[in-house]
Amino acid sequence: MKTKVIRKPLIAGNWKMNKNVQEAVNLAEEIVEKVGRQTDANVVICPPFTALAGVAKAIEGSNIQLGAQNLYPASSGAFTGEVSPEMLRDLFVTHAIVGHSERRTLFHETNAFINKKVLAALATNLKPILCLGETLEQHEVGDALKVVQQQLLEALKDVQSNQIENIIIAYEPVWAIGTGKTATPTIAQEVHFHIRKTIADLYSPAKASKIRILYGGSMNPTNAQALLAMPDIDGALIGGAALEAKSFVKIIENAL
Ligand code: PGA
Repeated sequence: MKTKVIRKPLIAGNWKMNKNVQEAVNLAEEIVEKVGRQTDANVVICPPFTALAGVAKAIEGSNIQLGAQNLYPASSGAFTGEVSPEMLRDLFVTHAIVGHSERRTLFHETNAFINKKVLAALATNLKPILCLGETLEQHEVGDALKVVQQQLLEALKDVQSNQIENIIIAYEPVWAIGTGKTATPTIAQEVHFHIRKTIADLYSPAKASKIRILYGGSMNPTNAQALLAMPDIDGALIGGAALEAKSFVKIIENAL
């Protein structure tokens, strides 16, 4: 447990393709009012691109940080419909979700492409929230650790030792996302431990002990406490329960 003390919990809300600008600003203002001054956990909210500017204003001066849900790994150019890390920095974005399973599945993103995004984020001083997770099929045949390790190794290719601390990992079993089924704390802890061990082997135990590894997948105010109590679970990436201030704030309170 001791090592956990050196890692500040991080709770991130992934709003996905929800909320128009006004709704996003309203939600951000409510979050600021309730937990915008506390300093015991990092709180990151990730609205859709269209609401980033409005939300940036709403959280200004608070301790709430702004995340994007995606980025394109180039600074500028002929990439119709895409958004660069520099454009995000311009909007005071500090974090970016990379490799979410919806992007892997619906938009066919590969580990190699996700690696480019990780490198582009780091080069621009954006902290990537790198999502990893196995599908139900892979889970059922006992391949979770193998799949997650492969995703991790490929996503971290060429990431240097002095950069690794700026990465946040999110373990999100695909079968738990938006399904109401969460991994048990024991199952999640086993995968988190394995992720940390892989980072220790790649970099060093000291570096690995500083990395935050979040759990994601149907986390809610009822199941949050047991998951967040596990030694290698350092926070959460929350979808559905982050769309309302009340449930999101309750989860944050469980992390403190
Ligand atoms: P969920 O989503 O909390 O709705 O399961 C988590 C995520 O996709 O990041």
